Amino acid sequence: MPYKTILFAAEGGVGTLTFNRPEKLNALTAEMLAEVAAALDQVGKNPEIRVLILTGQGRAFIAGADIKVFTQLDPLAARQLAFTGQEVVSKLEQLPIPVIAGVNGFALGGGCEVAMACDLIYASEDARFGQPEINLGIMPGFGGTQRLARLVGKGLAKELCLTGRTIDAAEARAMGLVARVFPAASLMEECTKVARSLAAKGRVALRGVKQTIDRGFNLDLHNACALEAEAFALCFASPDAKEGAVAFLEKRQPKFL
Ligand code: COA
Repeated sequence: MPYKTILFAAEGGVGTLTFNRPEKLNALTAEMLAEVAAALDQVGKNPEIRVLILTGQGRAFIAGADIKVFTQLDPLAARQLAFTGQEVVSKLEQLPIPVIAGVNGFALGGGCEVAMACDLIYASEDARFGQPEINLGIMPGFGGTQRLARLVGKGLAKELCLTGRTIDAAEARAMGLVARVFPAASLMEECTKVARSLAAKGRVALRGVKQTIDRGFNLDLHNACALEAEAFALCFASPDAKEGAVAFLEKRQPKFL
């Protein structure tokens, strides 16, 4: 399916979705949100795609929602924009496969919110993160206040959302927002390397890890561990569990389905 504001390619079990409005630093428009949602639906339905990478064309991942639209918004339209953005971000978060954000530049506002819905955030050394909405007289609306607090804690989330300051990749790494930082020239190669290694792992186990951590996060420990036991049990419904153990005992690499 041809897209106007994104690019999509798939190879070797790895899908890559690239935000593609570089002249506007990939600022999110309604059209772009709709195209991202459509691409995520396709990814969700395609069993050949085992891992998804998100990245941006040019010098931004996403520099936020398109500010031009804000001049026209009344509260009802603003609420609808927040719901639409939150829906797309949730769709991303709920994909059953691992998603890597390859943050190649600015990940501000909606860009930071999209990155936070991914399972792993890998950043180039020159990436910049932030929730600068406060500087526009507004606040995050695509889940930023909530996911940031869950990822880095309430105190740091308030500091970032209240001041609107932009942080570099090293600071984002230090606060636990970013998993790994790479030189800009090797970011995509490193993302692809990790994506390929994940694509070679057992699907049921990958899905179990992702969903157990996400769903268990807001449960008490007892119920969260019960969820884990069920997901652990489900691993044994796949031949991958036996293959993993037998391959280890036979001192060879496992071949997962
Ligand atoms: N919405 C709409 N347009 C945006 C945008 C956004 N969120 N972010 C960048 N752009 C546009 C700029 O208006 C500019 O367009 P123009 O060339 O037609 O004037 C183009 O992208 C390049 O941006 P520019 O500001 O010239 O680049 P810069 O290197 O000087 O600054 C940023 C980069 C990211 C610091 C700056 O663009 C910025 O602050 N963007 C807004 C970030 C933000 O507040 N995001 C949250 C929105 S809720």
